[in-house]
Amino acid sequence: MKAIEVQGLTKRFGSLTAVEDVSFEVEEGEVFGLLGPNGSGKTTTIRMLVGLSRPSEGDARVLGFDLSSGIHEAKRWIGVVPDSSNLYDELSARDNLLFMAKLYGVKKRVREERAEELLRAFGLFERRNDRFGTFSRGMKRALTIAAALVHDPKLLFLDEPTVGLDVVAARSLRDLICDLHHRGLTIILTTHYLEEADHLCDRIAILVKGRVVAIDTPGGLKRSAEEGSVIEASFRGAASDHLADLSARLPGSKVVFLDGKRVRVLGGDPSGVLEELVGFSRGHDLGLETVNSMKPTLEDAFVRITGLSTAMMAKEKGGK
Ligand SMILES: Nc1ncnc2c1ncn2[C@@H]1O[C@H](COP(=O)(O)OP(=O)(O)OP(=O)(O)O)[C@@H](O)[C@H]1O
Ligand SMILES: [Mg+2]
Repeated sequence: MKAIEVQGLTKRFGSLTAVEDVSFEVEEGEVFGLLGPNGSGKTTTIRMLVGLSRPSEGDARVLGFDLSSGIHEAKRWIGVVPDSSNLYDELSARDNLLFMAKLYGVKKRVREERAEELLRAFGLFERRNDRFGTFSRGMKRALTIAAALVHDPKLLFLDEPTVGLDVVAARSLRDLICDLHHRGLTIILTTHYLEEADHLCDRIAILVKGRVVAIDTPGGLKRSAEEGSVIEASFRGAASDHLADLSARLPGSKVVFLDGKRVRVLGGDPSGVLEELVGFSRGHDLGLETVNSMKPTLEDAFVRITGLSTAMMAKEKGGK
């Protein structure tokens, strides 16, 4: 059985189509990523899959249960971590877990044990009696994930697990997600961090404006970017002022400025690209400093597939 089968899922809010004809399948035990910029429909997709929002069209099977006929029974096996925490500031870490366990119908005699186990696994045991409201962002995130696991689900939905966390907290959370993966949990996560998707996901669906534009393994996505060269050049002068000219010189390539003086050229015949870069530099007196041929990154694949700049993905968001 597939953990999830999504068929033509669509969600409209008035005249806005937030999710359009999305289809994908998730295998049991897989970590599947929904990767896309702000507003691309990631959260809306997840909300439909966990029964919080009704699709305008399409259907999905979640752990074998059809969305359209209600996934009430599937909920016993699903954990959901929303993009902002659903826990109570006034309750202690431990009481939050006990409360969630009760809500999920975990038997009274195992609640305590389960809460303690999770507090230890998430490194929060020492802080178990402190109020949730006093926790740092990283600790809040960790406890919110722990709370989604109290009933020992088979399928976990994580909406932007590391947004707003510092590098160290984000890394420890990613390690934790890897652990859950190795224990056989099926995980659907959303992210707009390319390296996060690359690091954590077995497969990635790239969403742009509510549509899936690619589904593949991180390696497969990178290979698709390899068809053609990736050349990075740096200049002494403000080369990005002449973006239009450089793009016109390289019609078969995608030109992306990393900053004012560094550019990445995706695709095209390498020697031709090189020639044009030299001509471009001379033409505007930019002082070409370095030219490197690079191995494509997931970023390159993303740019190539979506036509979006990666700066769009880097947009920071608030988060609890
Ligand atoms: N309840 C709602 N009513 C009206 N429009 C909505 C509603 N929920 C989402 N939208 C719109 O649907 C689109 C997709 O939103 P969604 O939250 O799914 O994006 P996202 O990919 O999760 O973005 P982010 O990275 O910012 O979390 C957006 O244009 C959003 O404004
Ligand atoms: Mg979202």
